[in-house]
Amino acid sequence: MPVTIKTPQEIEKMRESNRRLEIVHDELAKMIQPGISTLDINREGERLIRELGGVPSFLHYNGYPASICVSVNDEVVHGIPKADRILREGDIVSLDAGMIWEGYHSDAARTHAVGKVSDKAARLIRDTEECFFHGMEFARAGHYLYEISAAIGDYAEGLGYGVVRDLTGHGIGKSMHEDPVIPNYRQKRSGIRLVEGMTLAVEPMITTGTWKVRWLDDDWTVVTADHSLAAHYENTILITDGDPEILSLTKGRRHPEAG
Ligand code: CO
Repeated sequence: MPVTIKTPQEIEKMRESNRRLEIVHDELAKMIQPGISTLDINREGERLIRELGGVPSFLHYNGYPASICVSVNDEVVHGIPKADRILREGDIVSLDAGMIWEGYHSDAARTHAVGKVSDKAARLIRDTEECFFHGMEFARAGHYLYEISAAIGDYAEGLGYGVVRDLTGHGIGKSMHEDPVIPNYRQKRSGIRLVEGMTLAVEPMITTGTWKVRWLDDDWTVVTADHSLAAHYENTILITDGDPEILSLTKGRRHPEAG
């Protein structure tokens, strides 16, 4: 998949797809409480996506069996929703969702606390969001892609976190995954020059321990190798000649006090 530059008409569709996905996330956030299952979240997420006129993009993608990835505690991403996986007070849970609306993809992830969580877990959630916003300082035309990567990774590593390397962000548009690949840690090269009209999914995956991950036997769920906690925060953004437009976050940050 090449790097694509979206036309104004395409940008409008990307905006609308992501605006709708933000609604899905806002609704799912209200459900998060001890006692619900990860399958309950998937069921409601899929219902909302369809109600908003979208098609769940994750469902059947490379055989993935659900519409929302629900990843708990040491699960980094791609957790498969299950009826018997019940959220408990103190857990953290990452929800990753995407939809296709009029042919254009949206992709965003949020990590939530379930009830009251440890200070360490709460800080991880906030700091992972903060990593994303550090990346945003370089997400503008004329800058280079890996400036985003370095800003994310350096901030996380400076706080002592692990930065997952085996999974990355990506370009997005008519396909969920377009070029470029967007690592979350400093690279030796500078990467492509950013151009107005690029749409990118930037998604730091941060751990309280090692950067190393492994895959569970279900071939999907990615967990930290040392079972440390992991958080994931993702938005689809539009590159402009000024500040990036965060297409999947139009109503402002959840933790504006961070940083
Ligand atoms: Co993504």
